[in-house]
Amino acid sequence: MDLSRDRITIRQPDDFHVHLRDGDMLKRVVRSTADIFRRAVVMPNLSPPINSLQEAFSYRERILSSLGVGVNFTPLMTAYLTDDLSPNVLEDGYREEIFTAAKLYPLNSTTNSSRGVSDLRLIDSLFETMQRIDMPLLVHGESVEPDVDVFDREKVFIERNLVPLLKRYPNLRVVLEHITTREAVQFVESSPSRLAATITPHHLHINRNAMFLGGLRSDFYCLPVVKRETHRLALRKAATSGNPRFFLGTDSAPHSRKDKETSCGCAGIFNAPYALESYIEVFDQENALDKFEAFASKNGAAFYGLPFNSGSITLVREDQVVPNTLLGETTEPMDKGLVPFHAGETLHWSLVKND
Ligand code: DOR
Ligand code: ZN
Repeated sequence: MDLSRDRITIRQPDDFHVHLRDGDMLKRVVRSTADIFRRAVVMPNLSPPINSLQEAFSYRERILSSLGVGVNFTPLMTAYLTDDLSPNVLEDGYREEIFTAAKLYPLNSTTNSSRGVSDLRLIDSLFETMQRIDMPLLVHGESVEPDVDVFDREKVFIERNLVPLLKRYPNLRVVLEHITTREAVQFVESSPSRLAATITPHHLHINRNAMFLGGLRSDFYCLPVVKRETHRLALRKAATSGNPRFFLGTDSAPHSRKDKETSCGCAGIFNAPYALESYIEVFDQENALDKFEAFASKNGAAFYGLPFNSGSITLVREDQVVPNTLLGETTEPMDKGLVPFHAGETLHWSLVKND
């Protein structure tokens, strides 16, 4: 890492949690990720979900063929766990390096989770297999039982589901994805090193007030939903602490305007285009620029057992205004482009890409 007050060069980073979608949306958004990150862990919540080797293989091909020439980007594919998935799919997919990890969505917890897991005890054979072959389990950590307040879903998931799971499978490698609470931070900090967490840019920047600022602001609606300020502050401390158990996962999740601007809008924030500038702003504000490379480019790779990237990227302290919309209009009705996170705001760092 090369660091001065106004300029920082770090190893090329990876995004350990991203939604690249499929079809036209994939083509629109993929370069926002692939131009910056060397690798990304790609979420499998397509409709239908990715849960066979063939589907993962062909989805990876579609991603690679949508990149254009000269883009050096590796999508790391994940399997979508369902109640009836065969353990052989995970074992074969992991050994053949088609799957990097498997993703657990509790049933009906978020976008395209209607095939998610209805009861963790139903998939013990999957957890046993994953523990034996050391395949990482990626967790959407929310309890969606009707008695649970939406703002408590993560905390309750940890108590009701994650604690028992880790007791039963103490050697399972687990990433608690996109953590949003002080309780999650504390839980990761106090657990053995086989548990880690990703943190998104939006959960570091906004609290739940943002969703209601002057009206109902669907562009700040994501899942797990943003929480109160004390939680945001705990996340900022964790991300910038240098603790290797916390690392970058944007959870960039684009939806069309039609799907955001409706009476029942989709959850997801499209943050890929300015993700690094967004993260570094936090590290700068927290006086922790020296910890930025570990969070963005080392901790995740180390946890996954991947080599560090050899390329580098440079960011300079230079203002830039984020456009209100990006990536143009399509023929879809009401498609006025995609709204990036930080739309209309000034960010204080800018990216200079190295080779
Ligand atoms: O906000 C979110 N959007 N959270 C998720 O868990 C899923 C994602 C999506 O796929 O849209
Ligand atoms: Zn996600």
